[in-house]
Amino acid sequence: MAEHQFKTMGEQSGRRSWAEPWKIKMVEPLRMTTPEERQKALVEAGYNTFLLRSAEVYIDLLTDSGTSAMSDRQWAGLMLGDEAYAGSVNYYHLETAIQEVYGYKYIVPTHQGRGAEHLISQAVIQKGQYVPGNMYFTTTRLHQELAGGIFVDVIVDEAHDPENLNPFKGNIDLDKLESLIKEKGPEQIAYVSLAGTVNMAGGQPVSMANVKALRALCDRYGIKLYLDATRMVENAYFIQCREEGYEGKPVAAILKEFCSYTDGAWMSGKKDHLVNIGGWLAINDYPLFEELRNLVVIYEGLHTYGGMAGRDMEAMAIGIYESIQDDHIRARVGQVQYLGDLLRDWGIPVVQPIGGHAVFLDARKFYPHLSQDLFPSQTLAAELYLDSGIRSMERGIVSAGRDPHTGQHRYPKLELTRLTIPRRVYTEAHMDVVAESVKAVYQNASKATGLNMVYEPKYLRFFQARFVPAAR
Ligand code: F0G
Repeated sequence: MAEHQFKTMGEQSGRRSWAEPWKIKMVEPLRMTTPEERQKALVEAGYNTFLLRSAEVYIDLLTDSGTSAMSDRQWAGLMLGDEAYAGSVNYYHLETAIQEVYGYKYIVPTHQGRGAEHLISQAVIQKGQYVPGNMYFTTTRLHQELAGGIFVDVIVDEAHDPENLNPFKGNIDLDKLESLIKEKGPEQIAYVSLAGTVNMAGGQPVSMANVKALRALCDRYGIKLYLDATRMVENAYFIQCREEGYEGKPVAAILKEFCSYTDGAWMSGKKDHLVNIGGWLAINDYPLFEELRNLVVIYEGLHTYGGMAGRDMEAMAIGIYESIQDDHIRARVGQVQYLGDLLRDWGIPVVQPIGGHAVFLDARKFYPHLSQDLFPSQTLAAELYLDSGIRSMERGIVSAGRDPHTGQHRYPKLELTRLTIPRRVYTEAHMDVVAESVKAVYQNASKATGLNMVYEPKYLRFFQARFVPAAR
């Protein structure tokens, strides 16, 4: 199916356009910087946008994680924080919201997504077991590896091709998965690790048909299926727009159906839930829940707060209900689409179809003259910051890290720079400014010389690595 054939909800219901289903009550001034200030800031940050101070940034598209604007109701919810060490009222609100919206039985709160990833990895992976998944995510894979697991990418091949217009590039390739199961034996598979709107593939969704088939395959071999639900609301919206039989169905119903095919989920609440901090794990199996509830008190906090304040849990419970409103999610994904369409129409190489949370620039095509060892995506993020003060993020060879066994760089096919859109924060005019800056950088791309890495941390190196410009 070609991308232009996807119908948005607005088109389905006969409406011509979407607009944000909110108005602005409070503003936070932005500061523009001079080219000299940016040059100095970039050198001090070792050409790594993670090391910039946010005061040096104009439009911040580093991430959609914890950067959302909360609603007036969520802010009001903060005042209802019950800061009891045990049994906070807000915990029970959160538990109910997750049970109602996602449909899982037992909930373990955590301080954010990686806290949940740590607990589930420690609880269910035995040393040497395989963990097949639909492309890796940085923190997810690292926790799986630290627990002794071996991650295997079983995403469909199309996911590695930035121009392929398959509407569900997040799908698992069932043949690849089944071959792995047969080769290693089902007892050697810890679980299948499925993520909604696959972040590293460019925010690409998984279809309902794929998760249903996965469920059947996992049942055949007695293997558990766990979901990274971090951006599952966005995934549900794509199903509504693109999958037969789901047109016009509420996103809330699609989300719940999707989750019903899985055995449990972990969540970074900092994305879909419209809050600045928080996460959770949810599971249907009581003995495993007992184990997780036991682990949470060691690593996160008591099982009724897991590292969050009572007020954070209240804001999250409210955010969960706001996140599944059709109007909200249409405007959220619609804004990302707006920026992506603009860039694509100007002939700028972006991953297509446009993803749910971000527009991903194809750095290989910006810099065909730079080898991957010169860090093209990192270079692009640096150039964009220099041009306009816009902050983006590397999602290429730096993020992929080194193979823990060989110590060599992993060379991902996708070499991308991510323009990640926070929820309910920026306007369409900001998107225009971003697009114009990307265009300017694209026009000057042949002058770029790439970067050399001069400091490399052992884990998740993209966060703190430092670079200097490569010699011409
Ligand atoms: N899973 C996915 C798909 C994520 O994108 C993230 C975080 C996590 C898990 C971990 O959650 O940050 O709350 O500990 N992604 C952020 C990003 C950091 O910018 O994409 P966390």
